[in-house]
Amino acid sequence: MTIEHNEGDSPDLEYSQLAASHIAISAGERIRHAFNGTLGEEISKGGVDFATQADIDTDRFIAGELIKSFPKTVVLTEESAPEDYASRFKDTDNLWIIDPIDGTTNFSRKRPHFGISIALVDKGIPKVAVVYLPMQGELYTARVDSPALLNGAEIHVSQTDALEKTWVESGISWDMEKRAKFAKIWIPALTEKVRAFTMSGSAVYDMAAVAKGEVDAFVHCGIKPWDQAATGLIIQKAGGKITTAQGKEWNAFETEIISSNGIIHDQLTGLISGK
Ligand code: IPD
Ligand code: CA
Repeated sequence: MTIEHNEGDSPDLEYSQLAASHIAISAGERIRHAFNGTLGEEISKGGVDFATQADIDTDRFIAGELIKSFPKTVVLTEESAPEDYASRFKDTDNLWIIDPIDGTTNFSRKRPHFGISIALVDKGIPKVAVVYLPMQGELYTARVDSPALLNGAEIHVSQTDALEKTWVESGISWDMEKRAKFAKIWIPALTEKVRAFTMSGSAVYDMAAVAKGEVDAFVHCGIKPWDQAATGLIIQKAGGKITTAQGKEWNAFETEIISSNGIIHDQLTGLISGK
């Protein structure tokens, strides 16, 4: 689909949200179709990291549609990112950050927990966020100037106020050093104190669950910008909080993060910071 738009130096935020939503829903139709068919052999990205043909096709589709709608903006996608993406893009304005399928392992094993993530950021700070969970039919959106919505209705984070009641979601990094730090330091520190600690296999899926109040927090030691750019803003606009693991100001290029309903945030950072 092509959307008519007269682009100035900075794209209009409402228009950007609408265009990205249409693109995410179209991408979702393709992914659902692939998921329900025969999935081909996976492509190795090195070590334990793999992509399916659907990741690559959807990555190209979303980037192509965004560039058609916003010819002046720059696109950073999971499947086409250069090694030095952080130094190249962390100071870029009007940057679209895309994860075509977040939760590739789930997708490849036919577990329906994965999502599409599209965010428009200035220097790593998101201003428009769109997440689509194609198997659940859930479209999450947020803008700096408007609330977080799920299929058009406002959403809010949970009210959980004590660690012993807190459900934390998480994930493991593709970076082996971060993975070891997570296993040795983060998991023991957290699991000793919280009620539940789980990993769905998709950061986007889990962070959307924080935004709608289903779970209370999502933490990650070694996350990438495409996993968190959109959902970080959605959590903030749903009344939650996202910071670095040290409790410092967040942007989408940070790698060790804590996001939560805000109420239990300092207690969670207290368990991790300084470690
Ligand atoms: C991964 C998932 C997972 C997280 C990893 C991510 P991918 O994304 O979000 O939950 O723990 O760090 O890389 O590879 O499925 O797009
Ligand atoms: Ca991802």
